[in-house]
Amino acid sequence: MKAIVWHGIGDIRLDDVPEPTVQDSHDAIVQITRSAICGTDLHFVRGTVAPMREGEILGHEGVGVVAAVGDQVRGFRPGDRVLVNSSVSCGACRYCRQGRTAQCDVANTNGPDAGTAFFGGPVSTGPIDGLQAEYVRVPWSENSMHLLPDNVSDDQAILLTDMWPTGWFGAERAGVRPGDIVAVLGAGGVGQFAAASAYKMGAGRVIVVDHHRSRLETARGQDAETVNFDTEDPVEAIMDLTNGIGADAVIDCVGQDSERPRTGPAAITGADAAAFDAEARRIAPDSPPDGFGPDHQWKPGDAPSLAARWSVDAVAKYGRLSIMGVYSPREFVYPIGQAMNKNLTIRMGNCDHHRVTPQLIDMVAAGQFDPTRFITQREPLHSAIDAYRTFDLREDGWLKVEISDPSS
Ligand SMILES: NC(=O)c1ccc[n+]([C@@H]2O[C@H](COP(=O)([O-])OP(=O)(O)OC[C@H]3O[C@@H](n4cnc5c(N)ncnc54)[C@H](O)[C@@H]3O)[C@@H](O)[C@H]2O)c1
Ligand SMILES: [Zn+2]
Ligand SMILES: [Zn+2]
Repeated sequence: MKAIVWHGIGDIRLDDVPEPTVQDSHDAIVQITRSAICGTDLHFVRGTVAPMREGEILGHEGVGVVAAVGDQVRGFRPGDRVLVNSSVSCGACRYCRQGRTAQCDVANTNGPDAGTAFFGGPVSTGPIDGLQAEYVRVPWSENSMHLLPDNVSDDQAILLTDMWPTGWFGAERAGVRPGDIVAVLGAGGVGQFAAASAYKMGAGRVIVVDHHRSRLETARGQDAETVNFDTEDPVEAIMDLTNGIGADAVIDCVGQDSERPRTGPAAITGADAAAFDAEARRIAPDSPPDGFGPDHQWKPGDAPSLAARWSVDAVAKYGRLSIMGVYSPREFVYPIGQAMNKNLTIRMGNCDHHRVTPQLIDMVAAGQFDPTRFITQREPLHSAIDAYRTFDLREDGWLKVEISDPSS
């Protein structure tokens, strides 16, 4: 079968690989009908979250049809149409029973303290072969998949595998309350869904910060106020928009591939630029700092802690911060002193997909929100490498790439 395979930093390929088989009594084999490319996948190709295993199949967003199940799988049968959660969880440990499925004690084969087990991730996550493939093996399938009702399409469901759950989790972790002014950093898929979720939870105003016009336009399409960090200082803009108080809550949907403003009043120069260069080298020591080729393909973020710094500066005293963007355990640069001195509450983490997703399936089934509005490209698996490249370069209009019918 065909799959997108990680071979090295800057080197992913469409390979022929063996079809997966049931290896454990809790496994399911799923024939994938939709997959997608996520900002998280870019970290692995850029080398900002490492190490990866050579030969690993990428991708953690998938919808499909069950092809086979292990002996212990009682809730799914071949032929069932399912959504596969990005993260894998056993459903029986202490954390799973609390709905804290990202911290499952069992699913990560590296042990209970190794962190979240998810598809297509670095060695520390298992690793578990990913979902940008024709077929996948889903370990602990009972607690890592959801049955789809007929009135939720595959196109809708693919956005419920990671993007919307993470946006929702981000708004939950930010403790969004009715009337809040919420600032969202990053207008990628996660940021768009964080904004949508904040409104669903009653936010009065949502301010979205990025520098890609089309992404900011999409955010305006859902009533957000937008700030372009290449033309304005985002912290000053948020202070101006909030009578100098700051946002009640900030959701960081950027993480350590954070980019620095090149123009405008927030442009990073001098000693600040040198400090960010040093941070970037520590995070991605094996990546070319300017990426590959004249287009700077697979370039790691050049201001890793900038979104974290802006979050702390733009939130009100006693404000709430929620960190959904990925930060590597390799690096520790955080404005802890500023945060402490503002009495902030900071919450973060990997999404508890299995707990969060059912309510989102219900909302889509009830017609309360159509997530497909954020799919901007539908590409077949055989052109997914090109789609990865264009998505990495953030070409205008490329917000979310669906990989359609990998197994057709
Ligand atoms: N916590 C979780 O469970 C979880 C799940 C999925 C994704 N993620 C992470 O969430 C983040 C966003 O994912 P995505 O798919 O939306 O990624 P994406 O790459 O599509 O979007 C990131 C956006 O951030 C913007 N950005 C860069 N620097 C910025 C800055 N300094 N200030 C504001 N915006 C800036 C970029 O222009 C881009 O539009 C990634 O780090 C991803 O790994 C986390
Ligand atoms: Zn994802
Ligand atoms: Zn568990």
